[in-house]
Amino acid sequence: MQITPSILNADFANLAGEIARIPSADWVHVDVMDNHFVPNLTFGPTMVEALSKATDVPLDAHLMIADADRHAPAYAEAGAGSVTFHVEAAAAPVRLAREIRKQGARASMALKPATPIEPYEDLLAELDMVLIMTVEPGFGGQKFLDLCLPKIRRARALMHKHGLETWLQVDGGVSLETIERCAEAGADVFVAGSAVYSADDPDAMVSALRASAASASTLP
Ligand code: DX5
Ligand code: ZN
Repeated sequence: MQITPSILNADFANLAGEIARIPSADWVHVDVMDNHFVPNLTFGPTMVEALSKATDVPLDAHLMIADADRHAPAYAEAGAGSVTFHVEAAAAPVRLAREIRKQGARASMALKPATPIEPYEDLLAELDMVLIMTVEPGFGGQKFLDLCLPKIRRARALMHKHGLETWLQVDGGVSLETIERCAEAGADVFVAGSAVYSADDPDAMVSALRASAASASTLP
C-alpha cells in the first residue's frame, strides 16, 4: 500500500518545505494542468525538475494536459519517477507508454470517471500503473465519487486475469473516510491532497492512511 500526497493544495510559495513535511510518503504526486485538458493551470517540466532536486522522495507526475503524446516524455526527462498521461488526451497510448519507459520512468495511464477500462484490456501489459480518477480532474478538495468503485474492481479483475501486477492508483477525494472502500475494491496506490495537507500532522496522516488501506485491502 503506497501513499502519494498531492501538493496541489499545499503552499505553492514553499513547495520544498511542504514536501519536507511528508518524509514517510512513498511518492510526491505532482498535478500538472494546462488550462485546456482541465480548467486549471499549475506546473510544467521546469518545476518538476526543480522539485526532483529538492527531495529524495520520487515524483509521481499526473499530467492533466492535452496532446500528451508530445509533452509527456519531457516529464520523465525532468526527473519524474512515474509519468501518468490521460488516455483521453493520448493519440497513441502504446507508443507513448513505451517512450516513457525508454526514458527510465514508470509509465501510467489515467482514466476520467466516465472513461471505461474495458477497451484498454490489451494495453495493460504496457503499463506500470493505471490511475482511476475518483473525481473529475481539475481541482483538489472535491467529493469522492462512489460510482467509480465498480471500475476499480473491474480493472483489478482484468489485471488478475492477465497475471499482471500493475499498480492501481486512485486519485480524488481520498481520505480516512473513503480509502478503505478503494483498497477493498483493489487499489494499492492512493493519492491524497487535502486529507494530508489539511491535517495538523501531514506525515502522521500519511501513516494513518496507509494503515487504513492495509487493513481493508483484499490483495495478497
Ligand atoms: C485532481 C488532482 C488530484 C487532487 C487530489 O484533479 O488530480 O491529485 O489534487 O486532491 P484531493 O485529495 O483533495 O481530492
Ligand atoms: Zn492527481
